[in-house]
Amino acid sequence: AGQRAGNGALTFKAVPPNKLDSFIVPNGYDHAVVIRWGDEVVPGAPELDVHRQTGARQSKQFGYNNDFVGVLPLDRKGKRALLVVNHEYTNEELMFPGFTSHDALSVEQVKAAIAAHGLSVVELERVGDTGEYRVVGKGARRYNRRITALATKFELTGPAAGSSWLRTAADPNGRTVIGTLNNCAGGVTPWGTVLSGEENFNQYFVGGDAAPADLKPKLARYGIDTTNRYPSGSRKWERADERFDLAKHPNEAHRHGWIVEVDPFDPEGRPRKHTALGRFKHEGANVIVARSGHVVAYMGDDERFDYLYKFVSDKKYMKGNSWVARQHNLSLLESGTLYVAKLEYTSAAEIDGSGKLPTDGAFDGRGRWIRLVSGNRSYVDGMTAAEVLTFTRQAGDKVGATKMDRPEDVEPSLRTGKVYVALTNNSNRGTGSNPKADEANPRTANRHGHILELVEDRSDNTAETFAWSLPIVCGDPADPSTYFSGYDKTKVSPISCPDNVAFDSAGNLWISTDGNALGSNDGLFATPVEGPEKGHLKQFLTVPLGAETCGPFITGDDRSVFVAVQHPGEIGGASIDNPASNWPDGDFAKPGVVVTWRLDGGHIGA
Ligand code: FEO
Ligand code: CA
Ligand code: CA
Ligand code: CA
Repeated sequence: AGQRAGNGALTFKAVPPNKLDSFIVPNGYDHAVVIRWGDEVVPGAPELDVHRQTGARQSKQFGYNNDFVGVLPLDRKGKRALLVVNHEYTNEELMFPGFTSHDALSVEQVKAAIAAHGLSVVELERVGDTGEYRVVGKGARRYNRRITALATKFELTGPAAGSSWLRTAADPNGRTVIGTLNNCAGGVTPWGTVLSGEENFNQYFVGGDAAPADLKPKLARYGIDTTNRYPSGSRKWERADERFDLAKHPNEAHRHGWIVEVDPFDPEGRPRKHTALGRFKHEGANVIVARSGHVVAYMGDDERFDYLYKFVSDKKYMKGNSWVARQHNLSLLESGTLYVAKLEYTSAAEIDGSGKLPTDGAFDGRGRWIRLVSGNRSYVDGMTAAEVLTFTRQAGDKVGATKMDRPEDVEPSLRTGKVYVALTNNSNRGTGSNPKADEANPRTANRHGHILELVEDRSDNTAETFAWSLPIVCGDPADPSTYFSGYDKTKVSPISCPDNVAFDSAGNLWISTDGNALGSNDGLFATPVEGPEKGHLKQFLTVPLGAETCGPFITGDDRSVFVAVQHPGEIGGASIDNPASNWPDGDFAKPGVVVTWRLDGGHIGA
C-alpha cells in the first residue's frame, strides 16, 4: 500500500447533519451499493424472497446487519479483492412480512434468521481504474463463502480449548463449536486473515433459570438472565436447535464470546475461536506487529463499566508470503499473554462529571497492563488459566481493572503505533450507586461518548505501561462539555456515539457512529490525530434513516472507503410491512455495504 505523500490534510467539505433517507457523500465523490441482504454469495443462491426464506436459502445469500468490513487485495493493484463482512444480528420485524412475535415465526424462519448471522466472503473487482468496486460476475467466485451461526464448524484453540467449561453433549471434547454469534467489529491481520468479535451472544440463550447453581453467577456476569426461562425479547432459537437452551446445555453459552479468525483465502478451511484472547462481549480485535516481532491485539468489551484488553503473542511474526511464513503466522494467536488495562489519573480531584477540563488542561494520565494469563499460567488468585480465559470479566473484576464507558473498536495506528479507543457512551456513569465520572470517563450520564488515545511506553506495543489522553469528547461542539484537542469548535462537525475506527495511510483517524444522540442520522467522520489540524473533525458521509454506520475500511491505496449500512429503518414501530426506510432499492430497507470514491480518482478525504 502506497503511503500518502504530503501532510495528509483533510480538505473535503463536511456533510452537514441531516435526517434524510439517503446515503450522502461530499461534493466530488460518488458511491454505490456493493452488496445487500439477500444477494447471492454462494454461486447458485436463490433470489431473496421474503415470503419464502429458509435456512438453506439464507445460507447461500448475503446475511443481515453487515457490521465489520475488510477488503483484502487479490493482486498488487487491487484489481480484484475479497470483501469479508460480519453479520451481527437480525431484525425479524424488518425481514419477515406479517411479523408479530418471535413465537409466531415458523421454525424454518427461525433457521433463516440464524443463517443470516455469521460472515460473508465475496470476490470483488475494481470498476475500470476508479475507486469503485463491484461483485464479480458469474464463474469467478472461488473464494465466495457464507459462514453462519446455523452450520459452520469452528475449532477452539488455545489454553481453554477442551476444558470442562467448554464441553457439551454434542461436543464432549470441548473443541468444536457450531456457529458464531453476534459478530460485531473486527480487523484484518498482517498475515491476511480476518478477526471477528463475538459480542452480545447472551441474547440467543434461554433457560438460564435452570442452569446449575454454580454456573449462574458466571452466566449472569455475561448478561444471561438466570431468573426467567424466557428473558424479555427472546429470539426462541431453541425451537430450531436445543443447544440454545441452557437448561439442557448450560456450557453452550461459554462457547461464544470469543475472537474468531477466518482465513478468507482458504474457502474450505475451518475458522477458529482463539481462547488465548479471552472471552467477553468482544467488539473486535486489531493487530499490530511490535518492534520485537511479537504481535499485539487490542480489544474492547462493549458493556457499560467493562474493560480494555490486549494480547501479546508468544511467537514472533514471520515476514513474507511463503507457505511456511503463513502457516507460522496462522498460529500466532493460539498462545500468548492476556492483559487488562488499569488507568491512573493526574487530576482525579478536579473531575466533577460535567466534562470541564482539569486545570492542567487535559484529561490524561498513565496506565498499566495487568497480566491475567501467560500461556497456561494464571496470574489471578483462585482461577485457573482456562477459567480466566473463559470468564475473563470476573478475572478483570478481581484485579481491579478500570471500568470504562463501553469500549467499542480499539485500533492501533500502523503509522504511529498509538492506539485509539471508541468509548461509545454510558448513560449509567455516575448515576445511583454506579461508578462516578473519572478522568478517563469524565462525564456523568455520558450520552455522546469519547475517544481515548493510548501511547505505549517507549513506543513498544508489548510494553506493560502506557500514557493516555482524551483527544475528543463527543457531542455538539456548542456544548461546553465537548473537546476537540483544542481545535476551533466552530469548524468541527457534531459527533455522537463513536463506534468503529479506521485509518487512512496518512494516519488520519476515521470514526463511524452508532445511535447519534443529537437526533441526526449516523455517519462517518475523519480527523487528523497529529499536528496543527489535530481535532479538526469533519463529517464525511451520512447513512439513511434508522441505520448505524459500520465498517469503515479504507483501502491501502486510499482510493476507496467501504462502510456497512447496518439496520436501515430500525425505528420503533416500523416493520417490513410499514417501513421507515426504503433504502437502497425503494421498497423495504435492506442492510448493505457501500463503496465511496473520489470522482477525480484522488485520495479519499484529501
Ligand atoms: Fe456491536 Fe459494540 O457494537
Ligand atoms: Ca459496534
Ligand atoms: Ca476498525
Ligand atoms: Ca454500538
